Amino acid sequence: MEKITFFGTHSYDRNTFAEINKNYGFELVNHRSFLDAKNAEMTMGAKAVCIFVNDTADRKVIEILAKQGVKLIALRCAGFNNVDLAAAKDNGIRVVRVPAYSPHAIAEHVVALIMTLNRRTNRAYVRTRDGNFSLNGLMGFDMYGKTAGVVGTGRIARCLIGILKGFGMNVLAYDIFPDEAYAKQAGIRYVELDELFSESDIISLNCPLTPQNRHLINRDSISKMKRGVMIINTGRGPLISTEDLIEGLRSGQVGYAGLDVYEEERNYFYQDKSSSVITDDNLARLLSYSNVMVTSHQAFFTQEAMGNIATTTLENCKSFFEGKELINEVK
Ligand code: NAI
Repeated sequence: MEKITFFGTHSYDRNTFAEINKNYGFELVNHRSFLDAKNAEMTMGAKAVCIFVNDTADRKVIEILAKQGVKLIALRCAGFNNVDLAAAKDNGIRVVRVPAYSPHAIAEHVVALIMTLNRRTNRAYVRTRDGNFSLNGLMGFDMYGKTAGVVGTGRIARCLIGILKGFGMNVLAYDIFPDEAYAKQAGIRYVELDELFSESDIISLNCPLTPQNRHLINRDSISKMKRGVMIINTGRGPLISTEDLIEGLRSGQVGYAGLDVYEEERNYFYQDKSSSVITDDNLARLLSYSNVMVTSHQAFFTQEAMGNIATTTLENCKSFFEGKELINEVK
């Protein structure tokens, strides 16, 4: 029986994978801790390791994995910015991922963040439960007629744009590979980033993190935005300079921020830290602002997405072990 060693697992990962694995029959070994140089030796003789967004697979880790006989890194996510692909190639390790599991899940979470920030339903919920039926501080804005700027127009962005168009919004988009046929059919307009920044009431980041777009949202780009803009990030944390975002929030230039990802999320996200002090001052500050909503990289987290993640990951591993073509290989 082929073995797959998982890192960074939680009960929901273990339960979903155990259920789907009934169709595959692999031996699944689970570690709770994220993969890093300290625990990379704990592959337990497996040729395949399975990791998620906050595991580290840099050159050092990959060299240790290779020494343990690992031949496959199976990402149970779409993004692969945490894997040193050159190092994997140098060490004869192939990398597969789950390119799409439910773009709807992430797009719908973007809208959940937007609507919570806009209509302040989080505050209303707490208030009415305490017998406070005042509306002070809860005023929102109509989505209808506002302009959304979407960075990236891949699978997730296209689901999101469909929903935003349903609200009656104007949509501007930026992509390094614009698809004009799609733009025409969706009724949106591709623009340069500067125009997207200056014209949008709501900006959503739906592109991958690359060396070129690290800190895409920074002091300079924020200064080009409409005063009171809403910024939503479900892409990857380092797309935003947290320091500059905080400065924008403090000055009122940024009116709202919805963050499902955060630059330093690895130390906090997916863990219960409710009994300890948050020593990350930027995170603590963001959490203290009423116009900021932080969720713990949960945009993907629906029943449908988890089932698809487990199925595609185990299917990727099956193809690898059977020496078949790896259709979801990252090169
Ligand atoms: P996709 O691959 O379908 O589309 C990405 C799009 O971004 C492509 O059209 C590409 O041309 C464009 N792009 C690449 N570099 C760009 C740049 N520098 N500026 C503007 N556009 C650029 O990807 P998909 O499935 O839509 O996912 C997008 C990102 O969302 C992923 O890379 C991942 O980082 C993030 N994600 C977050 C999740 C969460 O739970 N918060 C879950 C899944 C993905």
